[in-house]
Amino acid sequence: EKGGFEHFMLKEIYEQPNALQRTLLGRTDRTGRNIVFENLGMSNAHIRDIEKITIIACGTAYHAGLVGKQLLERLTRIPVDVDVASEFRYRHPIITDKTLVIAVSQSGETADTLAALKEGRRLGARTLAITNVVGSTIAREADDVILTMAGPEISVASTKAYATQLLVFYMLAFYFARIRSTVSTPLLETYVAELHKVPELVGQILENHGQVKQYAESLKDKSSLFFIGRGLDYSVAMEGSLKLKEISYIHSEAYAAGELKHGTLSLVEEGTSVIALSTQEDLYEKMLGNVKEVKARGAEVYGIALADNRTFAKSVDNLYLLPNTLPLLTPIIAVIPLQLIAYYVSVQRGNDVDKPRNLAKSVTVE
Ligand code: F6R
Repeated sequence: EKGGFEHFMLKEIYEQPNALQRTLLGRTDRTGRNIVFENLGMSNAHIRDIEKITIIACGTAYHAGLVGKQLLERLTRIPVDVDVASEFRYRHPIITDKTLVIAVSQSGETADTLAALKEGRRLGARTLAITNVVGSTIAREADDVILTMAGPEISVASTKAYATQLLVFYMLAFYFARIRSTVSTPLLETYVAELHKVPELVGQILENHGQVKQYAESLKDKSSLFFIGRGLDYSVAMEGSLKLKEISYIHSEAYAAGELKHGTLSLVEEGTSVIALSTQEDLYEKMLGNVKEVKARGAEVYGIALADNRTFAKSVDNLYLLPNTLPLLTPIIAVIPLQLIAYYVSVQRGNDVDKPRNLAKSVTVE
């Protein structure tokens, strides 16, 4: 059942190229250049009418929503909120009939997400579910559904569901941007073409897992760790940090790199491990500055950057190079080494990787 893998988590990490491929399938028009969602009830008029988007989700799905926000705002210029579902209901959110509420849930059964979705609808919003399970409660409750085609996810730590949720957010942002004419057609076509290459890039990373495995070995006895990044990298850092904590039980924090000096830098001392993501060209210089800040306090920095960004190599202690892609598209590929690090650290520590203590796969109580 684990298809020759030692754990479901590793199997599911390796299924990502196929899961992404399946999620892309049938979602471009005949020319292959435009994203289409054939079964969406939302008309073009509806899409043009949206004044605000609120994304609600929990855990890893929430982290996918954080990337979704940046994509949607950048490409469609619609203001986007992202809320942890258990917070959304109690904060008197501003929702109107021109709000689109997007619920993201692998299982489609998470009680908090379901309750938040119902609250959004009660307040008059149109609702869209991004879920991995056909016929799940959240899928049935929403006006529209976009399925991630990750296939069953058994490991408690979510991997392929997250990757396919990100992919759906890319497709949705490209789709809305075309209908609302907020991005030029040639640029959108470039994005769609590059997006189609992502599954293969993920495959390339998975073929060369030696370097991350080695790095994981060096982390196994740490008691604490930092993940830093800016922009899209910060959202990915949050997911990398959650994955590590969840299955390795090592405490870690994800920090917006520019925020370190406003507090957390005081925790960095000789030998502190910092994983620094730098895939956003417009932020390279800023990230270099932040890496210097932590290095000056004795941190050991493991950098993750695109193959093009070799200058980063001089500033970090170790560098992991991702295959090149557009900076906009890096989250789906940058998360892969982070998933593998979490996995191998957990294995090294002898933990029950697929069933971490105190956690359940589907959280159906609020
Ligand atoms: C972390 C993880 C959880 C889930 C969260 C939401 O690896 O799996 O944080 O993402 O419980 O679950 P779904 O997506 O089923 O609503």
